[in-house]
Amino acid sequence: MTTANARKRTLGVCYYPEHWPEDSWAMDAALMAETGLTWVRIGEFAWSRIEPSAGDLRWDWLDRAIATLGKAGLKVVLGTPTATPPRWMIEKWPDMLAVDKNNDVRKFGSRRHYCFSHVGYREESARITQLLAERYGNNPHVAAWQTDNEYGCHDTVHSYGASALAGFRAWLEAKYITIEALNAAWGNVFWSMDYDRFDQIELPNQTVTEPNPSHELDYRRFSSDAVVEFNKIQSDILRAHSKAPLAHNYMGKTTEFDHFAVGDDLDIASWDSYPLGFLEQKSLDGDVHKAEFMRQGDPDFQAFHHDIYRAVGKGRWWVMEQQPGPVNWAPFNPAPLPGMARLWAWEAFAHGAEAVCYFRWRQAPFAQEQMHAGLLRPDSQPAPALGEAASVARELSSNIDALGDADAGQPSVALVFDYVSMWAWVAQPQGQSFDYFQMCFEYYRALRKLGLSVDILRPDTDDLSAYKVVVMPALYHVTDALSAALDQFEGVVIAGPRSGSKTKNLSIPQTLAPDIQGLNCTVEYVETLRPDARIALAGGGCFEHWFEKLEDHAGVIERTDTGAPAVVRQNNVLYLAGWPDQSALMRVIQGVCAEQGVPVELVENGLRIRDTSSHRFVFNYGAKPAKYRGDEIPAAGVKWYPLG
Ligand code: GAL
Repeated sequence: MTTANARKRTLGVCYYPEHWPEDSWAMDAALMAETGLTWVRIGEFAWSRIEPSAGDLRWDWLDRAIATLGKAGLKVVLGTPTATPPRWMIEKWPDMLAVDKNNDVRKFGSRRHYCFSHVGYREESARITQLLAERYGNNPHVAAWQTDNEYGCHDTVHSYGASALAGFRAWLEAKYITIEALNAAWGNVFWSMDYDRFDQIELPNQTVTEPNPSHELDYRRFSSDAVVEFNKIQSDILRAHSKAPLAHNYMGKTTEFDHFAVGDDLDIASWDSYPLGFLEQKSLDGDVHKAEFMRQGDPDFQAFHHDIYRAVGKGRWWVMEQQPGPVNWAPFNPAPLPGMARLWAWEAFAHGAEAVCYFRWRQAPFAQEQMHAGLLRPDSQPAPALGEAASVARELSSNIDALGDADAGQPSVALVFDYVSMWAWVAQPQGQSFDYFQMCFEYYRALRKLGLSVDILRPDTDDLSAYKVVVMPALYHVTDALSAALDQFEGVVIAGPRSGSKTKNLSIPQTLAPDIQGLNCTVEYVETLRPDARIALAGGGCFEHWFEKLEDHAGVIERTDTGAPAVVRQNNVLYLAGWPDQSALMRVIQGVCAEQGVPVELVENGLRIRDTSSHRFVFNYGAKPAKYRGDEIPAAGVKWYPLG
C-alpha cells in the first residue's frame, strides 16, 4: 500500500483501544505519530466488545477509536476478531472447540479455541467479517486488513473432533472418488487396512501403533486446506467491500498449513517476529548457541522468515509484530541488547519489508501478557524500544542514501521450501532427529555464513532462470512444474538428501529415489544415525542424522572416508547422500558458487550480510563488536554500504 509520496518502508504498532480508557486514545495516537509511526493495527481480539452477546453490536467505540487514530494521521490495519470467539459463541456451538490428539476438548479461556472445519463457526466468522467489511470497507483510515491472528499458533491447525472427521471424509471422497482408488493410493492391502466406504475412515490419532503415513499425510493436507478455506471466506468478503490490501500475520516456525496457499488469497504476507522468544522456544541449537545469542536472537532465524514471507507475499510483506523487549511466553525471557529493536527493523527492511510494526504499544497490566514488554511501560512512560523505534523512523524520514526506498534486490541463490515435505517427514521421520525445517534452516544458514542473499522458492516454481544456484534439501517429491524448470535451468542445483524420494502419495517411486530431473543415481538403502554418530567425508566435514547408501556409478565426486559415494554430480545436479554438517555444506556450496561466478564472503560469527538493489547491509548479531572489511560494526549494530 503506497500512496503518492508515502515512503516504501514504514513503521507501525499494535494497539488495543479496548484495553485503555477512551480519554487516553488521543494522547496515545499523538505520541505514535510523534514517534514517526505510520500504521496502527487494532481489533483482532475485540469480538467480545464488538458483540457482547449474539447480535448485540456495539460499533460506537470502534468507530471513535478509528476516527481518533485516523485524525492523528495514522493508518489503521483492522483485524477480523475470529481468533477469539466470545464465550457466548461456545454456548451456541459447543462442538466448535477443537479436540486434541488424545481426544480432549481444548477449552475456552485463552484464544484460538476453534476447529477450522466447524461449519457453524465458519458461518459466524463470515458473519462478523461481513459486518466489519460493510461498516469499515470504505473508511478512509482503514488502509489494510488482517484476517484472524496467527493461524496455527498454539498448535491449532489439527483437530480430532467430529467436525474435522466429517470434513476429512468429504475431502477424501472429493479427492479419490472411489474407495478403491484411496486403498490403492495408501497401500491399504498392507495390514488388512482396506476400507469399503469413506465413512469408515477415522482421523489418524489413537491408532495402536503408527498410522499409515499416507493417511497421516492426507489428514495434514486436508487440515491445511481447511485453513486456506477458512481464510478465503474472509478474504472474499473483505475484497468485495474494500480496496485496502489484505494480510495475515503468520507465526514463526509454524508449518502445519501451506502458507503459500493461504498467501495466494491475500495481497501481503506478514509475520510476527520474536527473535529472543523463538531462540529460547523454537531453536534446535544447543545451550552454547542460545547463551551466545540470548539478547540478540539467532542470526539467521529472522532472515529465513523474512525471505519465506517475501515469497509467500509474492514480493509484498511486512513484520506485523516485532518484539520490543522481554516477552512472557518462552522458557526464559531475557531483554534485548540495546540496539536490537533497531537492528531487527532494519534487517526486515533490507529483506524488502514494507512495514515493521512493534508489538505492542503499551504493556498491559492485566491478564496473560502482563509481563510482555511494549513500547510504553504500563504507566505510559517510555520503555527502551520506544527510542529505538523513533530512531529508525528518523533514519527512514531523513532518507539517508534513499535507504527507505531500496528494493529487495535479486539474489543469485535460492532455496526451495515446501510445507508438504514438512508434513511428509513428520508422517515418516525414519529417525527422531530428522526435521525438515531444521535441514532447510541449516542450508539457509550455510548460505548466509558465506555472505549470500537468498530467495525462497515455493515447490511449484516453474522458472529458475533468475538464479545461478538452487538448493533443494529433502524435497519429498519434485512437482511437475519444478521438474520442467530444472530441465531448463542453466545454473547448478544442490539437492538431497531425501529429495525426490517419494511419490505424491508418500510411497517409494518405482525407479527408486532420487527421482530428480537430470539425475541418474539410485539410493540402495537409507540409515538414520544416533545423535553422536558421524560419517566423515573425504574432503572434510561429515554427515550426521541421515545417510543414504548410493549405488556406485558414474558421477561420484566425493566419497566418505570409507569410500562410499557421498556427493554425486550429473549434468548440473549435485546430490548429497546425507545430512551435511555446516563445514561440509559450506565447502560444497562454495565450490558451486565459484564455478557459477557467484561471489561469496565468509563473515565473522554473528555478522550477516544482506544486499538490496542499492546497498549492502551488514548486521552484527554478536554481543561484541566485529570487523567487516576492516570496518568495526558495534554489537547489535547495523551498517550499510552503497553497492557498486
Ligand atoms: C503473538 C500474538 C500476539 C501476542 C504476541 C506476544 O504470537 O499474535 O497477540 O500474543 O505473540 O508475544
